[in-house]
Amino acid sequence: DGDVYKYYADGDWKMSSSGKTVSVTNPTTGKPIYKVTACTQDEINKVFQSAKAAQKLWAKTPLYKRAEMLHKVSVIMKEHKSPLADCLVKEVAKPAKDAVTEVVRSGDLIDYTAEEGIRIMSEGKFLVSDPFPGNERNKLCLSSKVPLGVILAIPPFNYPINLSVSKIGPALITGNSVVIKPPTQGAVSTIHMMHCFHLAGFPKGLISCVTIKVSELGDFLTTHPAVNCISFTGGCDTGIAISKKANMIPLQMELGGKDTMLVLDDADVESAAVNIMKGGFAFSGQRCTAVKVVLAMESIADALVSKVNAKVAKLSVGPPENDCDIVPVVSESSANFIEGLVMDAKQKGAKLCQEWKREGNLIWPLLIDHVKPDMRIAWEEPFGPVIPVLRIKTAEEGINHCNSSRYGLQGCVFTKDVNKAMLVSDAMETGTVQINAAPARGPDHFPFQGIRDSGIGSQGVTNSINMMTKIKTTVINLP
Ligand code: G3H
Repeated sequence: DGDVYKYYADGDWKMSSSGKTVSVTNPTTGKPIYKVTACTQDEINKVFQSAKAAQKLWAKTPLYKRAEMLHKVSVIMKEHKSPLADCLVKEVAKPAKDAVTEVVRSGDLIDYTAEEGIRIMSEGKFLVSDPFPGNERNKLCLSSKVPLGVILAIPPFNYPINLSVSKIGPALITGNSVVIKPPTQGAVSTIHMMHCFHLAGFPKGLISCVTIKVSELGDFLTTHPAVNCISFTGGCDTGIAISKKANMIPLQMELGGKDTMLVLDDADVESAAVNIMKGGFAFSGQRCTAVKVVLAMESIADALVSKVNAKVAKLSVGPPENDCDIVPVVSESSANFIEGLVMDAKQKGAKLCQEWKREGNLIWPLLIDHVKPDMRIAWEEPFGPVIPVLRIKTAEEGINHCNSSRYGLQGCVFTKDVNKAMLVSDAMETGTVQINAAPARGPDHFPFQGIRDSGIGSQGVTNSINMMTKIKTTVINLP
């Protein structure tokens, strides 16, 4: 563990000549556990050069062979699920069982991507010219999907493996090359995942993994002229900054969320409570799809809050190694930010249903009742185990709150009336609305997208495959 982890380029692990490193801190102990090498501009330039050259050959590699290689990675990844999961536990404090689930889900995602990619990439279109006025039937148009080129993949700390493969898989099956920039927390998990691709024997230069000091080379990487597409998952402000500088390249972005749970007066309150627990507190709320605000109709709010409180009392709080329900959040600055939101709500008169308790990065689960729209936590994303409840008089009031947010990732509605559910779903301006279940990205082939500041484009296996291609047309002109 004292060693410095290398970057991956040209099919090999290399130490940067910079002599600089980036340190990874264990969120549970607050102590540094890993160091990764910090690449130089020159090294990044070389990585892109290789990625461009390797992509040309890869695009000509038969599709079935590309799929075969991806299936191989999936097998390798699942074989190594324990060390991969251990690393997630240490580096991002993911509860042990969830860490294994992330790895297995990633293998499944790669397999599905290989299969879906085979179908999508084998289809094209054939058109004739004479339906359009003024044309004879002398032009035959063939169109098919071709790769974009070099994809820059930037996954977040909360799913360093799964949200890497959700970018790499679609990129590779469609004939692109990939340069991946791991998150700082999660860098070593990403590096281990990359090693599974290495073991599968992909061509040199086709996939690379560069670790950098983001403050020094972040812009250099994201604005590099060799990049043909950026797939980014992470914070809103970073995503917006990247998009402003991106130079005419397609972007796929999954940013923050303030995923709303709307609980109507005819809802199954027990089910809503169960979903607040699962949807709000899993991985200590560090999911972009976590329930981040509950809007409860006044008639059921007391019952809902008391059910949730009873369940919160049963949550285990502690280290991820013990598979506790509530684990330390990723960093001290994140914990400070969450504390700031809670204190703001408390000062402005909200009711903390549990005692505020924090030890280092470990924050005890907290439901905050009687939150009002003038409180920061009504609008901001805690990314922690803290859930605000606002009491509303009508469904419209809830919908207005949801639609006034800068975010628009997912939302959900709890009601027994299917007609009401459909009306709410239609009115809620979010990428997805879940009916009677908490927000979630999976199953991973479902479309997944955010609107407003929550993102650009749509993900999910099928949409990512399509997004990482462009249409190429050939027209045969008959005499
Ligand atoms: O954090 C963002 C992830 O895309 C959420 O995925 O719903 O499977 O936790 P999840």
